[in-house]
Amino acid sequence: MKFGHFDDGKREYVITQPNTPLPWINYLGCEAYFGLISNTAGGYSFYRDARLRRLTRYRYNNAPFDVGGRYLYIRDNETGQFWSPSWQPTRTPLDHYECRHGMGYTTIRSSRLQIEAQTCYFVPMGQNLEIWQCSVTNRRRKPARLSIFSSIEFCLWDAQDDATNFQRNFSTGQVEIENGVIYHKTEYRERRNHFAWFACSEKLAGFDTQRDTFLGAARGWDNPAAVERGKSFNSVAYGWAPHGSHHVKLNLKPGETRQIIFLLGYHENPVDQKFDPPDSQTINKRTVKPIIAKYLDGKNIAAAFEELRRYWDGLLGVYQVDSPDLHANRMVNIWNACQCMATFNMSRSASFYESGIGRGLGFRDSNQDLLGFVQMVPARARERILDIAATQLAGGGAFHQYQPLTKRGNNDIGSGFNDDPHWLILGVAAYLKETGDWSILDEPVPFENEPGSERPLYEHLRRSCHYTLERLGPHGLPLIGRADWNDCLNLNCFSDTPGQSFQTTTNKDGKVAESVFIAGLFVLAAKELAAIARKRKLNAEARRYLAHAAKMEEAVCRHGWDGQWFVRAYDDFGKPIGSKVCKEGKIFIEPQGFCIMAGIGLKDGKARLALESVNKNLATPHGIVLLQPAYTKYYIELGEISSYPPGYKENAGIFCHNNPWIIIAEAMAGNGDRAFDYYTRINPSARENIGQLHRCEPYVFAQMIAGRDAPTHGEAKNSWLTGTAAWTYFAVTQWIFGIRTEYDGLLIDPCIPARWKGFKVSRVFRGETFNIEVRNPSGVMKGVRRVVMDGVEVVGQLLHPAGTGRTHNVLVEMG
Ligand code: BGC
Ligand code: NOJ
Repeated sequence: MKFGHFDDGKREYVITQPNTPLPWINYLGCEAYFGLISNTAGGYSFYRDARLRRLTRYRYNNAPFDVGGRYLYIRDNETGQFWSPSWQPTRTPLDHYECRHGMGYTTIRSSRLQIEAQTCYFVPMGQNLEIWQCSVTNRRRKPARLSIFSSIEFCLWDAQDDATNFQRNFSTGQVEIENGVIYHKTEYRERRNHFAWFACSEKLAGFDTQRDTFLGAARGWDNPAAVERGKSFNSVAYGWAPHGSHHVKLNLKPGETRQIIFLLGYHENPVDQKFDPPDSQTINKRTVKPIIAKYLDGKNIAAAFEELRRYWDGLLGVYQVDSPDLHANRMVNIWNACQCMATFNMSRSASFYESGIGRGLGFRDSNQDLLGFVQMVPARARERILDIAATQLAGGGAFHQYQPLTKRGNNDIGSGFNDDPHWLILGVAAYLKETGDWSILDEPVPFENEPGSERPLYEHLRRSCHYTLERLGPHGLPLIGRADWNDCLNLNCFSDTPGQSFQTTTNKDGKVAESVFIAGLFVLAAKELAAIARKRKLNAEARRYLAHAAKMEEAVCRHGWDGQWFVRAYDDFGKPIGSKVCKEGKIFIEPQGFCIMAGIGLKDGKARLALESVNKNLATPHGIVLLQPAYTKYYIELGEISSYPPGYKENAGIFCHNNPWIIIAEAMAGNGDRAFDYYTRINPSARENIGQLHRCEPYVFAQMIAGRDAPTHGEAKNSWLTGTAAWTYFAVTQWIFGIRTEYDGLLIDPCIPARWKGFKVSRVFRGETFNIEVRNPSGVMKGVRRVVMDGVEVVGQLLHPAGTGRTHNVLVEMG
């Protein structure tokens, strides 16, 4: 069953019924001001940091699931009937409903009682505000007398504190109301120099700023007292729950349309200019007023919307494909790229499954996210890399997370996830391959943000590599530490105390448990580092890295190979995990993907055997599960992985993040049919028809699809913020379509289904556009017979951009 459809021409997903199985959401904002918005206008907004600068309040895990958002109410003043044009929160039946999620905007359109309403929500580029551009049309044969009420609930900035510290917070709330603009200024009187504002383009019939007055005692958002009675209370919040509601009266002639603009914004004043007059407690509004005036003008809104569209044209224009597969095309061209931008902006902080208060930017997550967005925003990728590297510890280890606002490592979680440092090497490698900007390696970057500790970025990469060499276990494999990529494989934790964090509790000294996954990651990273060193003419150093990689590869082959597949790890007793000798958890996906990606086993048949084992043991119609057989009970020596019921999350769920590793491995091994088949199994667009089972949005990847051991096999969970976005984008664009960035140019090396006759890709790379047409006359899956660029045959498969900014026509013949 479907709940909508794609409109690829407009780059939109059109939801045609409001009660989707879960809220189907979109993101507003591209730079500093962000919002989440569901298909029924639920969600919230924040400035930079979803925890520390939350503008509007949202209650997670609510019932109904998604209540609280950017709400409007329409009231028919003749009958007193009222409804929400976005369906929530009144959930009054609508005669027509349509939500269009597009690139950085969402439009919700509906009609009831022959009153049509359409609201387009977006954040203009360069501004810290959101626009709700609403138009209301009277389709009746007679005049309509209507009231429109807006409604948002302000958050008292720190979302964590806001949700817990009621004894204080019920007494701190403050607002100002001036010329119809509602200013939320809680704590502005003391240490904050920022406030929120909520404006409306029309003359107001009234307003409310105290939530409980607006709603009335014992009422919810579905039936606010002010809306029911058709008149605001003009309440002024002083403590309790600051809220924003405008009341506009609208008399519409038959056929008449009127536009009402609502703006919600964030503004900062210099600390010494907070008040006007200076000795008062009144907000200084001199710099915010021109902004408000500008965007209350429809002309400027149209221009801002056009600018947003152009911004996305630019981002998406970097890579466009025309292949025989509709689902691959729309994901690569539109939605997967869009999701990569969301993971760039949000990391794992704020979605409908990430509360915005739990996690900052993950060291490993953000580095992997780079793989998906570096081509769209290279300058910001550079900045991100330098921020991440500045949280690295002098010993090469890394803070597992950092807070985007402060850019400081998170002490509560600390470090000791022994895979972390290597992702920095892979992130930097991806940046260098995309941009050719070798200067980044010489940027001085501090350790642990300590001024004075700056060393060139390249030195950080060296230390990342050495981190593992200093932490080898009994088999010469890397010690795992708190966990590796799999946060839930906690081999030094041994927790028997409820509520203890599996990630930060360590009861073992950590000198025994080893990770074959980190070994694979190390080999790949060390090879990249060798290539980088060679480019810097550090040939002896490059040889050393290769020697370390070779030695690690040997350790993997000797102690990490189980006969049919790669072992996953060794536990604190030195016993293998992910081996045929295990009762449960005999085979894991991660080392199969990463060891092969590192090149291990490609020549001696191990890779093929491992991939066949994945196909036989782990592949399901809904994707590849993380391990089999699932752990049926809690194993204290394994940690969180065995805490999940079988089939969920890391315990044999289809953890989509590592499916693309197998896709890449298959592509490396030359099996295009299988690579593409695996891709299609998790491709949300290809799963659109099973929406009732899949439940999450059909336009973005979810972190997990329930594995075959779960009763809900095939159900997706935790959509939007997942490493799946970047890895899948990377796997499809660079390994299936095979337009791959290398240090010296763009490599053409497709691995496609044999039945494909060809495809086209347009790729902007280092300032030049490559229009590539690939033909597959003999129906092969891999192999390039000839490459012709601008009429001249290229030697090999690598295209060298000449920095001329030209457009090139490239013809590729497979065979
Ligand atoms: C999740 C990770 C998270 C970890 C921490 C895992 O189940 O997949 O996202 O970091 O739990 O508890
Ligand atoms: C999600 C986390 O954000 C990521 O860092 C981790 O690798 C995966 N879960 C697997 O545990």
